[in-house]
Amino acid sequence: MTANTDIAKAMKIHLGTLFDELPPMPEFVAGIRHAPTRHFNLSPKDTELALKNALRYIPEKWHQRLAPEFLEELTTRGRIYGYRFRPAGPIKGRPVDEYNGRCIEGKAFQVMIDNNLDFEVALYPYELVTYGETGQVCQNWMQYRLITRHLEVLTREQTLVMASGHPVGLFASSPEAPRVIITNALMVGCFDDQENWHRAMALGVANYGQMTAGGWMYIGPQGIVHGTCSTILNAGRAKLGIPADQDLAGRLFVTSGLGGMSGAQGKAVVIANGVGIIAEVDYSRIKTRLDQGWIDQVTDNPAEAFAAAADYQRKHRGRAIAFYGNVVDLLEHAVHHDVHIDLLSDQTSCHAVYEGGYCPQGINFEQRTELLRSGHAGFKEMVDATLRRHYELIKALSDRGTYFFDYGNSFLKAVYDAGIKDICKNGENPLDGFIFQSYVEDIMGPILFDYGYGPFRWVCLSGRDEDLAKTDRAAMQCIDPERRFQDRDNYNWIRDAFKNRLVVGTKARILYQDALGRMKIALKFNEMVRTGETGPVMLGRDHHDTGGTDSPFRETANIHDGSNIMADMATHCFAGNAARGMSLVALHNGGGVGIGKAVNGGFGLVLDGSERVDNVIRRAIPWDVMGGVARRAWARNEASIETCIRYKELRGGSDHITLPYLADERLVGNLVEAAFAKRQTEK
Ligand SMILES: NC(=O)c1ccc[n+]([C@@H]2O[C@H](COP(=O)([O-])OP(=O)(O)OC[C@H]3O[C@@H](n4cnc5c(N)ncnc54)[C@H](O)[C@@H]3O)[C@@H](O)[C@H]2O)c1
Repeated sequence: MTANTDIAKAMKIHLGTLFDELPPMPEFVAGIRHAPTRHFNLSPKDTELALKNALRYIPEKWHQRLAPEFLEELTTRGRIYGYRFRPAGPIKGRPVDEYNGRCIEGKAFQVMIDNNLDFEVALYPYELVTYGETGQVCQNWMQYRLITRHLEVLTREQTLVMASGHPVGLFASSPEAPRVIITNALMVGCFDDQENWHRAMALGVANYGQMTAGGWMYIGPQGIVHGTCSTILNAGRAKLGIPADQDLAGRLFVTSGLGGMSGAQGKAVVIANGVGIIAEVDYSRIKTRLDQGWIDQVTDNPAEAFAAAADYQRKHRGRAIAFYGNVVDLLEHAVHHDVHIDLLSDQTSCHAVYEGGYCPQGINFEQRTELLRSGHAGFKEMVDATLRRHYELIKALSDRGTYFFDYGNSFLKAVYDAGIKDICKNGENPLDGFIFQSYVEDIMGPILFDYGYGPFRWVCLSGRDEDLAKTDRAAMQCIDPERRFQDRDNYNWIRDAFKNRLVVGTKARILYQDALGRMKIALKFNEMVRTGETGPVMLGRDHHDTGGTDSPFRETANIHDGSNIMADMATHCFAGNAARGMSLVALHNGGGVGIGKAVNGGFGLVLDGSERVDNVIRRAIPWDVMGGVARRAWARNEASIETCIRYKELRGGSDHITLPYLADERLVGNLVEAAFAKRQTEK
């Protein structure tokens, strides 16, 4: 067998080169949330495998010491996080110049990773969870240390390969190639299920990257405020008859979750000038949003919550009210007291209902955490019973005129999994969708994604407020507010962004834009970097976008040609971005809705002011969006067909998009009806 000494000699980067001595166990800072125990159920043989897997990172001289420590972490926490290797104290995305590196991209990615793990940004910073209950930057702190070191030595002639949080290594490439290629949780189809997934995570071979956690582009809850704001505003316009130039004044939006992403809901509803009641079972998360000013008041009494809401509805003033308690209890009150709710949704972590994402009725958050720790018996049944009750209440409210939509958290699927077949359109299975719509199916898809409008974002890597203010102004000047109502909303958003105090963590901004809008802004920013008006800028987007995600329960819910179960688009988007020279590309299984239910990808592009980057912007940014619009057009989505036609007029050049001929509904319908009638008579 090869000796460990020879193995160590063959590596320039390993923990033995980073530490002379084992680092001391860092003290946990009081008041920082920890992930709940992820149920440990490995067999003895698999437990050995998990230990050997974790010890792969550890020089042999420390095995005796660390093997029992890792075993303890695995059996008590359900995972090996390698806490000992976490840097002590808070981690923050610092100004890019403060990082070591041989290229700007290597330094920039360190800013992004550290921001994802900031105490103020991350959901469970000690367990490397950025958001969405289980969305991790990487699996453990050994990986974090090694990734950081790889990024410090990365050159423009190399690409770092990242497989589910594990830095496979640096491989020779070219300045035109991505500096980092990331995949997370890509499982082979027949093993792509919860059971195999849970085992793979515990073995330390899989990382749930969610979307931007494992893709290193998370920018705090701001990332979703704009999307949430657009969703509820447009839900109001499409379903409540509010005119396109008006807001949610006087309307009530009820929902749940004040966590990583869901925490945006309070801020968004106030920006849309509506009143929101947001249920949350974990007081620490309410406190975070209160301190931040994204929640205006809190109560644990449903009657008080609805009375306060009614007051602000009457005054036509925006207000965000947190209800400290279970969302199902809040809805029980609304149903029994006949309270009218205009818009209703849910943003608990239903992609992971049995792993702590959804708190059952009748127990509080602390009891739920204890039940998770002590094992799953009975817990699943409690979750399922609550989901079934939740569904009944939603149905009752919906029958009275409330518009309910699934907020991309796999809620409808979770209700179905809890035993409610009635929730399916065909009364049997989710193949034809659910009786309630998902927000993309009904609102975001047809109004935004089909045109290519999506969550473009940037981070001012200098860390300076003035850079953010300058980029905000420059982006605003690139938008024509008179073109469409969507442009007017985006223009207003960026105009008011600074005033709305959206930044948590790095100096970042989100702005929904279409393909050519994004390209225009990116070129402008790169010019500003070139002339020294701002420091370098990191561009990116949420994976949750026009072309980035294949997810039949969410992003591709408004694809109706049967291809919503295919993942070709997200895969092409990822590969195409790599081919066109984005600085970072990522492809994940499962983001948002849970493992096996989505394939999604994202990118990062470091603007260094160079002509090379101008060229990458021109070829990669329109592709990143238009690949998705083209697929939506092929699915016969009307706005996408129009957008492709317009894109050809505006851009011409070498792009050529295949468009569908539209069949006459009557021709097809009559033909099929006659054929089936004939088959019936022949039987
Ligand atoms: N709509 C989108 O664009 C979008 C984007 C990202 C994520 N998501 C999905 O939304 C969900 C939430 O994401 P997150 O990052 O906020 O997750 P999170 O786990 O940080 O927050 C969810 C919150 O719900 C609370 N909660 C759980 N059960 C509850 C109950 N019964 N009553 C009241 N509160 C309860 C939890 O305490 C938690 O704070 C995830 O499934 C995620 O995948 C949606």
